[in-house]
Amino acid sequence: MSKIKTTFHCQECGAEYAKWQGQCNKCNSWNSIKEEIKHTLTENIWDHTNSNLNKASNNPTSIDEIQIQNEFRIETQDKEFNRVLGGGIVLGSITLLGGEPGIGKSTLFLQISLKIRNKVLYVSGEESENQIKIRANRIKYSNKDCLIYSENKLENIFAQAEKIKPNILIIDSIQTLTTNSIDSTQGSITQLKTCTAELINFGKRTSIPIMLIGHINKEGNIAGPKVLEHMVDTVLQFEGDRNHLYRILRVKKNRFGSTNEIGIYEMVTDGLKEITNPSEILIGNSDQKLSGTAICSSVEGSRPFLIEVQALVSTAVYGTPQRSTTGINTKRLNMLLAVLEKRAGFHLASKDIFLNITGGLKVEDTGTDLAIIVAILSSNNDISISDDYCFAAEIGLSGEVRPVSRVDQRIKEAEKLGFNKIFISKFCDIIPTKKIQVVYLSSVEELVDKIS
Ligand code: TYD
Ligand code: MG
Repeated sequence: MSKIKTTFHCQECGAEYAKWQGQCNKCNSWNSIKEEIKHTLTENIWDHTNSNLNKASNNPTSIDEIQIQNEFRIETQDKEFNRVLGGGIVLGSITLLGGEPGIGKSTLFLQISLKIRNKVLYVSGEESENQIKIRANRIKYSNKDCLIYSENKLENIFAQAEKIKPNILIIDSIQTLTTNSIDSTQGSITQLKTCTAELINFGKRTSIPIMLIGHINKEGNIAGPKVLEHMVDTVLQFEGDRNHLYRILRVKKNRFGSTNEIGIYEMVTDGLKEITNPSEILIGNSDQKLSGTAICSSVEGSRPFLIEVQALVSTAVYGTPQRSTTGINTKRLNMLLAVLEKRAGFHLASKDIFLNITGGLKVEDTGTDLAIIVAILSSNNDISISDDYCFAAEIGLSGEVRPVSRVDQRIKEAEKLGFNKIFISKFCDIIPTKKIQVVYLSSVEELVDKIS
């Protein structure tokens, strides 16, 4: 016997309340709390568990007796995607791909479905078959075993999947699904949780890997609850600037591999192109020596690549100087400016400062600090930095130059691309190389003498 009750859920973060209120206490968003039906069991829970125990076929096993079974993976034709997942799609696994609208989530999954040599059921609750066909024509690959199904009722999707027995099931997007088993509006927290739980059961029972697309909210989380991220096996994030061509596929969680991998793509007219040599593309080519640019040997995930940092420092026209960044956290820039002011005596408080990572990429690596400072000083003093210098170090609050992870890999990458000098922290332990000269720095003050 079940009794129907209602509760109130925040549609942004999933917090639950007994009654309605205007603002969510947990995530502070306004008007995000909606009433939903809650199903509660009125039976005694122990009666329930005991009856289940009698039926249980599965008993606890000693850890010593457990035999490891290697998970079986389906390799896609997309090498970046395989690498990000840790070697391919694991049978029976659930993968969630999040990203802003228009970033290319549907394109990525459709492209994988068209290139793969397996049977794929691509379910779209957002677009018609016609729209998907137009996109497929742009991608220019074809796979007769890629079946397109425009549907959002979970029961119908399961029925078709049972009949067709695809090797991969793709759902675009989880927010459009509805299930008859609960009485709640499409896209609500309860619908999302129930549909995901039913999909997980279906995946585990049939061993069909399921790949879900999820929209993200303004904070950058998968729209709706964080709980979705807890439920699935793998969470991927597709990011980049919509106005730029490059996209990064990051792993936020992976039960079957490392979370350190990233995949890099370029959005071209016929789909997403895998970028296997990011460094060569991300560094601007210019014959003239310009002030305000510095090259950083960065590591994103476990992959080294070179990026170009550009800075423009100019006298502020209005009262409050502007601090504007693309690709780097503005707070990090403010911290570096404070360090320059206090430790190296540069007066930048009355200057407008603009900072940019070329290619529209977002970098999280603190190893870019040194290159940021060099680019700012270069623009401020209007001196150009030699184009065969490269930088990789973090800056501490007292102006010290700190070591960063994977320094050897960073040096090798710079060497491979023909740089002659790399500036790193004095405290790095490195394997000496012959081709590239390594310059050690211990503080920001030393920097000025050594780069000129
Ligand atoms: P889409 O996959 O629809 O994004 P999402 O599912 O994340 O909302 O991609 C949308 C953008 O990609 C759209 O603005 C057009 C662009 N695009 C290309 O540039 N080249 C292509 O080959 C395709 C298919 C799309
Ligand atoms: Mg889409």
